[in-house]
Amino acid sequence: MLFLCFLLCVTTSVAMGNILLLSEPPPLLLVSFDGFRAEYLRRFPMPNLELLYSQGVLVEDLTNVFVTKTFPNHYTLVTGLYPESHGIVASHMYDPIIKGYFPQGNDEKEAVWWSEAEPLWITALDFGYKTAAMMWPGSHYSYNNRTATHSVPYNLEVTFQQRLNNVTQWILGNGEEPGAKFAALYWEEPDRSGHKYGPDSENMAKALKEVDDNIGLIVSELKRTGLWGHINVMVTSDHGMAQCSPDRVIHLDACLHPDNYTLVDITPVAALIPREDAQMVFDLLNHCHAHMTAYMKENIPERLHYRNNRRIQPIILIADEGWTILHNGNQLRLGDHGYDNSLPSMHPFLAAMGPSFRRRYRLSNLNSVDIYPLMCHLLSVPPRPNNGSLTQALSLLHTQRQKLDLSLVFTLTVGIVLVLFTIQLLFRWLRSYRQSGSPAFHRLECNGDVELRANSCK
Ligand SMILES: *[C@@H]1O[C@H](CO)[C@@H](O)[C@H](O)[C@H]1NC(C)=O
Ligand SMILES: *[C@@H]1O[C@H](CO)[C@@H](O)[C@H](O)[C@H]1NC(C)=O
Ligand SMILES: *[C@@H]1O[C@H](CO)[C@@H](O)[C@H](O)[C@H]1NC(C)=O
Ligand SMILES: *[C@@H]1O[C@H](CO)[C@@H](O)[C@H](O)[C@H]1NC(C)=O
Ligand SMILES: [Zn+2]
Repeated sequence: MLFLCFLLCVTTSVAMGNILLLSEPPPLLLVSFDGFRAEYLRRFPMPNLELLYSQGVLVEDLTNVFVTKTFPNHYTLVTGLYPESHGIVASHMYDPIIKGYFPQGNDEKEAVWWSEAEPLWITALDFGYKTAAMMWPGSHYSYNNRTATHSVPYNLEVTFQQRLNNVTQWILGNGEEPGAKFAALYWEEPDRSGHKYGPDSENMAKALKEVDDNIGLIVSELKRTGLWGHINVMVTSDHGMAQCSPDRVIHLDACLHPDNYTLVDITPVAALIPREDAQMVFDLLNHCHAHMTAYMKENIPERLHYRNNRRIQPIILIADEGWTILHNGNQLRLGDHGYDNSLPSMHPFLAAMGPSFRRRYRLSNLNSVDIYPLMCHLLSVPPRPNNGSLTQALSLLHTQRQKLDLSLVFTLTVGIVLVLFTIQLLFRWLRSYRQSGSPAFHRLECNGDVELRANSCK
């Protein structure tokens, strides 16, 4: 009996171990196509992207973070923090403690700018995972002296195919070492074409066909390597793109002599440090143009979450959608981004597929800060403090219920086996009790009989 119990315990723990092994999370590949405005999905045919999300999920509209620029939003995706909390508040910054400007064009000096928040490729290392980042903004600077297991600095010359091949190799591992559990991959289109032609241009059709072809490469590469179906893939972007025009320009110098301030960033969100009378500079700029709003730092609207960082300057100017702030020297671009993050034109999308995601599921909107906790959940990595939430994001997954079902089935099976086992033991015991007990009954009966007979004989 004791031995049987022991056997049962051993089988149970082995089964439990198997379950735990089975629930080791699949690898996660996060891909960003810079400047992929959500509305492009409705305007241009994207057969490969459609194939991907028809087998997974599509978030039609992702509310990103202000300012809707590349670096702030890419860092939000991997930290779940608003820019005021992760420190990359713009593409051009000044830090009064560092006493310097960003970008500095020097890797060693640049690292400190990215050190206010820990990105996922570092956090996941603490849980024994290998990680990889292919040209993702900020990924080749060390954080607390550490970088992703594999990382490659930005290099325009490297094709998408090459980047993808490296990433899939890292995820696969080399047979001896396990592969990377989390990989982030960056590609600079359709942003470049969006700036050059403007999002409304017919030329965007060609740029988006190339992007879709690259998504096709992801699918075929994952199929070729056997990863397809065993990997979670998330395709997203940092921001959208607005159509600009020479008819919609704001000349800053027409309102105020540039001697009155130091300009840190220019368009569509200008950041400036007034030289002397801040209030007078503010008043002049606030009445500069009907399509530009000035804010003193302390009055920047709460909803923008853009206040609590020393890299946010005392005065910021926000241009209306499609308007360009011009200053001595900077040039108009036909497409631009950076505007208020409540504008749909600034929003990207999210498509995802893989074993953890539901199939053919659509969600109309999600906040981009929610992507980080979702990725942590997918990797079973405890998230660092962040501004996102799983409340909405969990609806994209189905493994939650499956995992629950699996453990439920397991518990039920073990329960039923235990009950059957006990019943069988009981029967055996009863039978053996009856067998060993029956002679006594016989004797009793016999004795009774004898007695009865004796009595009757009497
Ligand atoms: C980081 O590493 C370098 C050399 O590997 C070392 O000199 C330095 O002290 C380290 N810094 C920290 C903060 O650990
Ligand atoms: C990327 O892959 C190429 C071959 O396709 C290889 O030559 C190169 O070393 C790889 N880069 C890294 C950083 O692993
Ligand atoms: C702006 O600068 C000009 C030239 O240096 C100066 O004459 C003017 O008083 C300044 N205006 C304000 C509002 O500071
Ligand atoms: C965002 O998260 C950080 C880290 O937890 C926190 O310090 C900050 O206050 C949060 N911001 C908002 C607006 O809740
Ligand atoms: Zn971008």
